[in-house]
Amino acid sequence: KKINLAVVGATGMVGRTFLKVLEERQLPIENFYVMASSRSAGKTITFSGKDYIVEELTENSFDKPIDIALFSAGGSTSEKFAPIAAAHGCIVIDNSSQWRMDPQVPLVVPEVNSEDIAWHKNIIANPNCSTIQAVVALKPLNEKYKIKRVVYSTYQAVSGAGLAGWMDLENGLKGEEPKKFPHPIANNCLPHIDVFLDNGYTKEEMKMVNETRKMLHNENLKVTATTVRVPVFNSHSESINVEFENPFELDELIETLKNAPGIVIMNNSKDNEYPLAVDATGHDEVFIGRIRRDESVENGVNLWVVADNIRKGAASNAVQIAEEIIRNMNA
Ligand code: A2P
Repeated sequence: KKINLAVVGATGMVGRTFLKVLEERQLPIENFYVMASSRSAGKTITFSGKDYIVEELTENSFDKPIDIALFSAGGSTSEKFAPIAAAHGCIVIDNSSQWRMDPQVPLVVPEVNSEDIAWHKNIIANPNCSTIQAVVALKPLNEKYKIKRVVYSTYQAVSGAGLAGWMDLENGLKGEEPKKFPHPIANNCLPHIDVFLDNGYTKEEMKMVNETRKMLHNENLKVTATTVRVPVFNSHSESINVEFENPFELDELIETLKNAPGIVIMNNSKDNEYPLAVDATGHDEVFIGRIRRDESVENGVNLWVVADNIRKGAASNAVQIAEEIIRNMNA
């Protein structure tokens, strides 16, 4: 059966990539709708060789039958319109942080916890970009060795801050003042992503902590994070330090990662082979290298994990969730 599908925020950085990934993966779409703010209403967007007119998102947008809507139009848009869509029987896959920690809303990376899709009430949250690539790496290791503690340090691309973030780097390299970030991102690393919270962490850091716990189904997992914006246009890199309850053999740990879904190992340091942002861009896999024992603790390992934050970290993950839903509809 073909489905009716809407993309909300179709003109944005993630929205455009939704269209690209939907085309590539050839989802079975009957009627297709593109929605954005009044600023873009009336513009034309081409999808699978056909032109579509951008509709303004309103309270009436979901009066027509829509099976699945992919949202990436900011938290306040999701807060208002996802429940309206859901009440009309549309399944919303939401890329904003608005619903992620709601106990009624599954937070899903298909390689990690696709079973959680089953209990949705018409809203499913797509996790934070940095968290998605991290949990793809952590899930098989948690199953095998039981994770005790995780330390994240991220090196995040400007595309994660939308078109405005991208322009700050592009224009900053020409000497212009920043508009999106509080400081120049050109030639700088900014240890500041999203807003600061009372505990001294940024919201991005706490998303990584809380979302990791939710998807690995362990509310007490010890996790800490430092998230940093770096002058890279696309793809996030992460240093992940993991401590396990159980002992491991390094070769076996690498095999475990290699055999897990959605992972490509690039771990040949003597040939200078390790994952790079420029190589991850355009791909849906999570690339892992620099795999080595943390010799300062009993059962620890260090990983270098890189993925395209707009694809696997946002659009492709949401489309994968849509594919699972369609499979379940047709089962
Ligand atoms: P628009 O282009 O009309 O402003 P990005 O994160 O790359 O900046 O993209 C944000 C996306 O969310 C855009 O598609 C933008 O549409 C859309 N958007 C922002 N605010 C709203 C809103 N109030 N209603 C619908 N779409 C919105």
